[in-house]
Amino acid sequence: MKKVLFVASEAVPFIKTGGLADVVGSLPKCFDKEEYDVRVIIPKYMCMKEEWKSQLKYLGHFYMDLSWRSQYVGILELKYNGIQYYFIDNEYYFAGPKPYGNIYEDIEKFAFFSKAALSALPVIGFQPDVVHCHDWQTGLIPVFLKDRFHEGQFFANMKSVITIHNLKFQGVWDVKTVKDITGLPSYYFTPDKLEAYGDANYLKGGIVYADAITTVSRTYAEEIKTPFYGEKLNGLLCARANSLRGIVNGIDYEEYNPETDQFLEKNYSIENWRRQKVKNKLALQRELGLQEDRKIMTIGIVSRLTDQKGFDLIAYIMDELCQDEVQLIVLGTGEEKYENMFRHFDWKYHDKVSANIFYSEALSHKIYGSCDAFLMPSLFEPCGLSQLMSLRYGTVPIVRETGGLKDTVEPYNEYEGTGTGFSFRNYNAHEMLATIRYAEKIFYDNKRDWNKIVDRAMAADFSWDASAAQYKEMYDWLIG
Ligand code: ADP
Ligand code: GLC
Repeated sequence: MKKVLFVASEAVPFIKTGGLADVVGSLPKCFDKEEYDVRVIIPKYMCMKEEWKSQLKYLGHFYMDLSWRSQYVGILELKYNGIQYYFIDNEYYFAGPKPYGNIYEDIEKFAFFSKAALSALPVIGFQPDVVHCHDWQTGLIPVFLKDRFHEGQFFANMKSVITIHNLKFQGVWDVKTVKDITGLPSYYFTPDKLEAYGDANYLKGGIVYADAITTVSRTYAEEIKTPFYGEKLNGLLCARANSLRGIVNGIDYEEYNPETDQFLEKNYSIENWRRQKVKNKLALQRELGLQEDRKIMTIGIVSRLTDQKGFDLIAYIMDELCQDEVQLIVLGTGEEKYENMFRHFDWKYHDKVSANIFYSEALSHKIYGSCDAFLMPSLFEPCGLSQLMSLRYGTVPIVRETGGLKDTVEPYNEYEGTGTGFSFRNYNAHEMLATIRYAEKIFYDNKRDWNKIVDRAMAADFSWDASAAQYKEMYDWLIG
């Protein structure tokens, strides 16, 4: 039996701030249980829903040195959907209304979590062959594994993988503090190791020390080797190019299934969506106070409202777009300037724009299951899951050709009758608007072709099967 441990800062259904949680919550289920024992460790945040907290079972605790500090490490467990989950408990680090978001707290929080996750393994009695780390929050794990943990028999042969879900976030803080927090010696704080541009950098540590590096699409794996997308680590990523691969994300095909989705007014399939899906549109228009119109083209957005997602392009052309026969349904939270931008246009074009500035799983499913198109003009996008969810629900994605968006949305070609969505290349507001208008034209004037795009979108396969096979191959290669 091969043993793999996922260590991450979030996982559905327990805690989620973005796509990372979807991946960590769905990928472990996709390995053959006869061959792989995949388990998951995440923090036990106080802000987790009571529904989950109350189900966790106490497994044990110990005190761990974190430099000069001695900290309580509680371990809780839960078997969920056939996967063994562990939760690291410490009420000092994991308190607060949000799981993370203030770097000055997070830097110590995730040094603690990374060391605690490893230290808990002998207590749990699980000795993984591969520790699979995710993003900067777990970047210190490969470093710790090569450092003091290496001395004991238990950890000596453990391999590590780090998956970069977003290179933008690296966990950067000054060297002095990070030395003090981690207890790592000066040896590690040089520019060929943890130090980057004078500061300590957790993700860099992970990239330098992991046995393999992955990111979540092929195109992003290429892009991050260039200065524009490389977030100042492109040099290092080029140097480690032989150990870096892009494996595209999938989505949970049971969770996201228009035939069974409990959040939808009307379930539908690839066979009957033409008659059924529009009922969801009417229900959603009613729910959101938009004009109930089965004919009008509805465009959905479900997103963190940040620069990454291309909202400055949208802000720039909103007035123009709202002259068209479209309705725009937005669900998201994030930067205040974008929240207020959508609130403003909701007020200005009340019958056309619905701004829902909050987090709601239910509404997100309704948008995927109701809209005609889905807009995602990202500046950069490691993979993106929202466009995969849209494809699954036959909601035609309109995207910029970057990262995973480029790899998963095939642009419509009216001459060949191919494609699952619409895309544009340059980060330019009017290039985006022209693409949206081209989509409108097909939607209104060439419904047969539009419907075929929807058919192809729904037939595309972005379940985890193919990608899980690539992870397996990598684990097997690491285990040797
Ligand atoms: P990222 O991880 O960069 O935020 P992804 O597309 O990979 O982008 O994943 C985003 C995930 O978060 C999707 O599951 C999407 O449905 C969900 N999501 C984003 N914003 C909201 C929101 N306001 N309410 C509900 N779900 C949201
Ligand atoms: C990050 C990226 C997103 C990706 C997700 C899961 O949040 O921004 O593109 O889909 O991680 O890998």
